[in-house]
Amino acid sequence: MNSKQNYTVEILFHERQIQKKIFEIASQVSKDYKDKDLVIVAVLNGSFIFCADLVRNLDVRCAIDFIQVSSYVDIQSQGKVQIISGFKEDLIGKDILIVEDIIDTGITLEFLIREISSKKPKSIKTCVFLDKKCAHKKEVPINYSCFEMGNDFFVGYGLDCNGFFRQLPYLGRIKEFDK
Ligand code: PRP
Repeated sequence: MNSKQNYTVEILFHERQIQKKIFEIASQVSKDYKDKDLVIVAVLNGSFIFCADLVRNLDVRCAIDFIQVSSYVDIQSQGKVQIISGFKEDLIGKDILIVEDIIDTGITLEFLIREISSKKPKSIKTCVFLDKKCAHKKEVPINYSCFEMGNDFFVGYGLDCNGFFRQLPYLGRIKEFDK
């Protein structure tokens, strides 16, 4: 996208639909983690809105931690993940729920599960806003998912395009057209 182009955002899920789904998922998480030692690990940047809504619908005690990762491409390999900012919480013996905005290839989630496993938690599960199942290149466990999506590019509700659109309260898809 560049400044010479016009665009519109096609809305796929309205705020109300998203909130209804999050309430359902949060209710299930609350049931499953009753009497557990839950630590939510939100993966920045994309999950910040989803995680904020999810935790405010939880009815169970939890700690919340954040990790910031980025993917990059080098000559030898595609999709290498590196940690920009890591965990503050002690994860030993805890029940970890990784919260992601989107699973595409699954490379980031596979990396995160490996990283978190090395901290010796009691359990690791995953909760994602969007699951692009058809795009997975890695076998990753998705325990809670709000919406299964096709292989498209999504914006809004935390997801960006070149850093923009994250603040949209709905999920959409960009439709570009030249002036
Ligand atoms: C997105 C998303 C996941 C990752 C998923 O992050 O938040 O972390 O990509 O892709 P994968 O399944 O192919 O690994 P992104 O690198 O766009 O950064 P952001 O969260 O800051 O938007």
